[in-house]
Amino acid sequence: MPKTLSQEENKQLAISLAPMYGVTDFTTRLFIFLLSSCDKMTTPFLRVTETYPHKIPLEWAPDIFDDAIKEKLAFQTRLQMMASCPRRFSEAFKSFESFLEDVELNCGCPSPKVVSHFAGSSLLRDPEYFSDFVSQIADNIGGDRFCVKMRTGYDGTEDFDRLIQGLARIPLKQLTIHGRTKADKYSFFSRNDLIHRASLILPYPVMASGDVLDRTSFQKAMKEMPNIKGIMIGRGALTNPFVFSEIKDENFLRPSDLSYFKEALLCYGLLVQISKDDFSTLKEIILDSDFQESYLDKEEKWRLLFLELYERNFKKKFIGKFEGDLDVATLGRVKLLFANFVKGLFHSGSSKEVLRSKNAKDFFFELDLFFKKLVC
Ligand SMILES: Cc1cc2nc3c(=O)[nH]c(=O)nc-3n(C[C@H](O)[C@H](O)[C@H](O)COP(=O)(O)O)c2cc1C
Repeated sequence: MPKTLSQEENKQLAISLAPMYGVTDFTTRLFIFLLSSCDKMTTPFLRVTETYPHKIPLEWAPDIFDDAIKEKLAFQTRLQMMASCPRRFSEAFKSFESFLEDVELNCGCPSPKVVSHFAGSSLLRDPEYFSDFVSQIADNIGGDRFCVKMRTGYDGTEDFDRLIQGLARIPLKQLTIHGRTKADKYSFFSRNDLIHRASLILPYPVMASGDVLDRTSFQKAMKEMPNIKGIMIGRGALTNPFVFSEIKDENFLRPSDLSYFKEALLCYGLLVQISKDDFSTLKEIILDSDFQESYLDKEEKWRLLFLELYERNFKKKFIGKFEGDLDVATLGRVKLLFANFVKGLFHSGSSKEVLRSKNAKDFFFELDLFFKKLVC
C-alpha cells in the first residue's frame, strides 16, 4: 500500500493546475479555483515572436497583469512563454517584468506547427542546443526567476540523462517534467522513474506532471518520486476538479454531495460569456466579489454568484427559468467541461440529452433533469 501522506506533508508540496492551451484560460482558472482548493496555476503558453506580443496581454491573464484583479484573487498564476529564440524570450520577460515573480519556458509542446517553428519540444532534439538555450535565458533574466517545463525527450528517452546533466549546471528556480516524450504525445504512461532520477540529481526543486487523477494516483506518484517538490495536474482536473481538495485536505466531494454543481456549471458559462462580451464587467464583478476563498461545495455561495452573474449578463433577475442565451461557442465550452466531469464523476446518468441541447435554455432544463435523476 502506498504511504499515506499527512495533511501537513501535502501542504508542503506545491500542487498546481497544469497549463493546458485552449482549455485553462483565465475564466477556467478562476472557475477551477472556486470549485476546488487549487491555489497555484500556470498559464498556457504565450507564444513570443519578433512581433508578438506587442503589448501586455492584459485580458489574457488578468490574474497576472491586472494588479487590482490579482489582489482580489487568492490564487497565484505563473506566466508560461514559448519561444524559438532566447533573446526574444528574455526581452518579452523584461517588458512584463514588473508584473512577474518568475516565468516558465515551454519545452514540451508537441504540436507540429510549434515544432516546425523550432519551439516547444523541438528544443529537446539536441541536448547541447537545449542547455545553451536555457543557459542564455538564465544569464539574461536570472535563474532565480526562471522555471522550465519539459518532456522526457523528443523521439525517445535516450537523451534524457544528457538533457538533465546539461540543466544541472544552470541555476534555475524550478524544473517541471512531464514524463512523456514528444513522440508519445499523450499516450503510454508518464515515466515517473525518469522524473525521480532527475529529482535526485538537480540542485533545485523538480515538479512532476502526468497522470495524477485522484488521491490514489497522487499517492502512487509520491511513492515513486519521493524527492519531488510538487505535482502539476492537467487532465485530471477536468475529469475530477476536486482532485486538489482530495489531495490537500482529504475532502472527497462526490455526486451525492453535488447539489450545487448545476449552479456552478452555469456560473462557468456566464463567466465565459461576460468575459467575452465585456471584460470590464467581469473586472467589476471580481472587484466586488469574495474570491479570496474557494467556494467548494458551499451551495449558497454558488447560488448567489449565479444570481449575480445572470442579472449582470441578461440585465434581468433570474426567476427560476434560464431565459437568456449563451453564444454557441460559450455553450460548447460549458458542454465540454460537463462532458469531462461526467466521464470522471458521474458514472450513472445519461448525459446525451444535456449535450444535445441547442441553447442555454434547453441546457439548463436538461441539466436540471440530469441532476434530479442522479439524486434519485
Ligand atoms: C489540451 C492540453 C493543452 C496543453 N497545453 C500545454 C501548455 O500550454 N503548456 C505546457 O507546458 N503543457 C501543456 N500541456 C501539457 C500539460 O500541462 C501536462 O504536462 C500534461 O497534460 C500531463 O499531465 P496530465 O496527465 O496531468 O494531463 C497541455 C496538455 C493538454 C491535454
